[in-house]
Amino acid sequence: MKIKLTEEEIKKLKENRGVRPHRVKFQLTNACNARCKHCNLYLIKPDVLSKEVVLKTLADLSELGGKDVDFTGGEPTTHPNFVEFIKTATDYGLNVKANTNGFLLIEKLAEGMIKAGLKELAISIDSHSAEEHDKRRCLPGGWQKAIDGINFIDKYRKKYKTNTKVILYSILSNKSYNHAPEIIDLKKIANFDEINFIPIKDIENKEDFLSKEQIEDYYQNIKPILVEKYNEYKFTGIFRTIDDPFGVIASKTEDKSTSAKYTEEIYKNLPCYITNFYAYIISDGSVVQCCVAPHHLRPEFIMGNINQQSFKEIWNSDRYNQLRQTLLKPNFEICKCCSGHHTAFNLDVHQQIKEYEKG
Ligand SMILES: C[S@@+](CC[C@H](N)C(=O)[O-])C[C@H]1O[C@@H](n2cnc3c(N)ncnc32)[C@H](O)[C@@H]1O
Ligand code: SF4
Ligand code: SF4
Repeated sequence: MKIKLTEEEIKKLKENRGVRPHRVKFQLTNACNARCKHCNLYLIKPDVLSKEVVLKTLADLSELGGKDVDFTGGEPTTHPNFVEFIKTATDYGLNVKANTNGFLLIEKLAEGMIKAGLKELAISIDSHSAEEHDKRRCLPGGWQKAIDGINFIDKYRKKYKTNTKVILYSILSNKSYNHAPEIIDLKKIANFDEINFIPIKDIENKEDFLSKEQIEDYYQNIKPILVEKYNEYKFTGIFRTIDDPFGVIASKTEDKSTSAKYTEEIYKNLPCYITNFYAYIISDGSVVQCCVAPHHLRPEFIMGNINQQSFKEIWNSDRYNQLRQTLLKPNFEICKCCSGHHTAFNLDVHQQIKEYEKG
């Protein structure tokens, strides 16, 4: 998320008011057809956001000046109204992004998503090897379906002349990180536009985490190959997730072995502005300030529930404004679980405020 702040928005920020819900992420459901080793969502009681509540919230977002919506899960393609949500959000002028494991992405669905106006699709492929991917995701045939899904999307974005972007999401585990260059080579069989490498994080089972030595190996030996390949395939820009997926460059900390440690160093000095621009709606209807904190354990981060109140009321509530105020002072204490998803955004907003203050 990159935002150019106006003078009026900077003033609002300084008064601790929500500027606008620039990006809102909907977890349409937490149910899933996969059982990934690195994800524990399927262990939680299944919930689904209802059609009525999602449509009402999209209307609120349009009114509040929202720009982007993100449909995720669980597996969002299992939601019966998935395509209708893309269409409605697009009709409101919102840019729609969706995130899928691709298992249900048959040709008909791909065409429906493109016709409904999808702007960006993130599709998860965790290994260059079909066998490894399917094993990690407990989803036999999943790798091939995801590859086919990318190509169906490519076919229909060309047919309907949309500029829908396809981003391949791939986790970096201690077993897979050194195969990252082979993941980029999947470009030879599937026409995606960018890659987002995501270090494994936030799970109790740490067996997939990279050691400090492996992280160093990534920066010294793997990253240069990735940069070369990125240029070779003419991808549109080097993602931070290739340049600095573990936040080593940004944080300048010594111990980079887990994401929370590097983030802590940054947030000792940097306020978090995310609550002024972003919200995450969980499948039980809870509205939370970001997609990072484990909200089921931290009810103080739940700002309200769209099954009981409108999103608009929640966004403008005193409760939300109080949290905004709290986070405007560097306050890592209450966000110890932060894995730095929004660090680049916060650094950018902070810079803009400093420049405004300098005059
Ligand atoms: C929660 S999934 C939801 C969308 C869809 N089911 C999918 O797998 O793409 C969104 C992304 O988060 C990633 N993810 C899930 N758990 C993760 C973890 N512990 N660490 C890093 N990435 C994770 C997934 O691999 C996927 O790319
Ligand atoms: S497919 Fe996505 S939501 Fe489902 S278990 Fe895997 S990462 Fe989690
Ligand atoms: S967990 Fe991180 S991104 Fe979320 S509000 Fe806290 S500091 Fe901001």
